[in-house]
Amino acid sequence: MNAVELIERKRDAGTLTSDEIKWLITSYTNDTVADYQMSAMAMAIFLNGLNAEELAAWTEAMLHSGDVLDFSDIDAPKADKHSTGGVGDKVSIPLGPMVAVCGVAIPMMSGRGLGHTGGTLDKLESIPGFTTGLDPATFRKVLDKTGLVLAGQSETLVPADRKLYALRDASGTVASIPLISSSIMSKKLAEGLDALVLDVKFGSGAFMTDTARARELAETMVGIGKSHGVDTVALMTDMNTPLGRQVGNANEIAESIEVLRGEGPDDLTEVTLELGVQMLLQTGVAPDAETARERLNRSVEDGSALEKFMEVVEAQGGDPAAIENPDLLPSTGKHWTIEAKEAGFVSVCDARSIGIAGMRLGAGRARKEDTIDPAVGITVLAKPGDEVEVGTPLAVLEYRHQARLDEALRILEHSWTISEEAPEPTPLILDLIE
Ligand code: URA
Repeated sequence: MNAVELIERKRDAGTLTSDEIKWLITSYTNDTVADYQMSAMAMAIFLNGLNAEELAAWTEAMLHSGDVLDFSDIDAPKADKHSTGGVGDKVSIPLGPMVAVCGVAIPMMSGRGLGHTGGTLDKLESIPGFTTGLDPATFRKVLDKTGLVLAGQSETLVPADRKLYALRDASGTVASIPLISSSIMSKKLAEGLDALVLDVKFGSGAFMTDTARARELAETMVGIGKSHGVDTVALMTDMNTPLGRQVGNANEIAESIEVLRGEGPDDLTEVTLELGVQMLLQTGVAPDAETARERLNRSVEDGSALEKFMEVVEAQGGDPAAIENPDLLPSTGKHWTIEAKEAGFVSVCDARSIGIAGMRLGAGRARKEDTIDPAVGITVLAKPGDEVEVGTPLAVLEYRHQARLDEALRILEHSWTISEEAPEPTPLILDLIE
């Protein structure tokens, strides 16, 4: 087969066969198709898309470009959750322990933050000693021991995506629904799951800002999961406003602990519970939504979910004392408060600019190679619907360097809109796609 011929066909909106796609992905993985050729193909797909058969073949070829995990010898049902990413989205951290204590095995593989969105691995690594880079034997040992493992993607899983994602990042071809959905789903399908719940975000702080594109992405991913025999559902959730109050790393761990103690903010608790309900329903651990919710709430009330989290932290080399007492998590001790300049109701608290400001403080990375400062972050104190006076604190920034604080403050200048009237409430969870 000839890469140029396939690129030209897709460029002209033609169709590729399954064999051609398999050949292309295999040849790209073993370096016989060059980066510049795959880059041209990614742009052709970005512009002309993939039909359903092509998408299935593309995902399948990516999935089999490396190892596929097999946990079939574990008795419990296996499930994971994936979020398309947002600001203040620490849901995986309380969700994992809550669902695990209900009897679901969770081999959770998470990612790092990039741009204005945070990543679960970065947050977990703010716990002193916690390791997310586990070799396959340790990954399995932790899963067997605790029923939950919170780790990064292994090197041998979907190597085609490792190469292709970097290429897309550098060639303006990330925001393509077939390329995003095959990238995410090939990695999730390689985890050997029975069930997968997706949290597809929409709004200013999300990948897909408009709901129609987010819905299309959700439907595409659910379709891929189901066609591979994995019970997949997606919740579409609002990411116009940061989720919870904390944006950063150590502060997001502290807020996750609040959820596990039953003291978390309502929006974060609600998204966590709803995703958990879906996981318990999909795996058959709970017969209906009401029972699922009760079980999840019980795991918080009786302390078992928090205990589970401490168990996992310890199994992955972290210090459980920092979970018991979040004051032991990293902190700079330097704070700056932003106050409202006018009175009224908060109508906008913009997730994207708050995420970018957090990144500028050092909580995120602009480029993959940037390092994270686990201690810095933003506590959001005023959210849509809140009434404020002149001088009411809108947010507190924890910072380390004055120059970075100044930059963050410049970005945050227009993050809050104060209006005379209270805004109409909008749904946090827009839809369930199944
Ligand atoms: N996350 C992924 O893993 N892949 C994409 O293409 C986009 C987000």
